[in-house]
Amino acid sequence: MQPIITAAELFVMNVHSGDSSGHDYSHIERVRKMALLIGREEQADLFIVEMAALLHDTVDDKLVEPARAWQQLEQFFDSVQLAADKRAAITHILQYISFKGGKNAGKLRSLEGKVVQDADRLDALGAIGIARTFMYAGAFGDVMYDPDRAPRDLATADYRAQSTAINHFYEKLFTLKELMNTTRGRQLAEERTAYMEAFVDRFKQEWH
Ligand code: ADP
Ligand code: NI
Repeated sequence: MQPIITAAELFVMNVHSGDSSGHDYSHIERVRKMALLIGREEQADLFIVEMAALLHDTVDDKLVEPARAWQQLEQFFDSVQLAADKRAAITHILQYISFKGGKNAGKLRSLEGKVVQDADRLDALGAIGIARTFMYAGAFGDVMYDPDRAPRDLATADYRAQSTAINHFYEKLFTLKELMNTTRGRQLAEERTAYMEAFVDRFKQEWH
């Protein structure tokens, strides 16, 4: 299995090279490490966990054109001759891992998927999560804060439409801790969310 992991690393490095929206390869490495840590505790299939963690953002429609991305992924699976059952398990995870303004709620069924989803969400929280939020806002031309713009309800708003960095905490990040799948994930999410809440309070205090 190790040669397949190594091939996946190379494939993923290529896809994410040059990203400055908070989805660079270091994000992938952190998610991989965290997913393996949680996956071990949950006794998940660690090959599926590691592969899905590596590949999870290669088909994200915020970053790449989906039809082309899925085609490249299929080519990659062919090139490493990945067994059909493993392919299906990984594909299922990549299809439903993303938050999509809540539109994917409940669709991720496998333990491995839930583990990788927790690891991905944890990387959106805490100090790293704060940094990534501002990277994302900068990369997509959003302002960091506008006191006159109220946070939107992502269940109805277009989750890709213009927002502000501070609104993103209310629209998504503060809601994630309730959505965690695993015990370890929830525990870390609670700590990291408390840190972000203190940051946003302080930010507003300095702003005003
Ligand atoms: P997912 O793949 O689960 O939908 P995203 O790709 O939306 O997750 O999130 C990746 C990172 O980009 C996270 O750190 C997230 O907080 C940040 N991000 C996503 N959307 C926005 C936004 N509108 N404004 C600021 N940061 C954002
Ligand atoms: Ni991710």
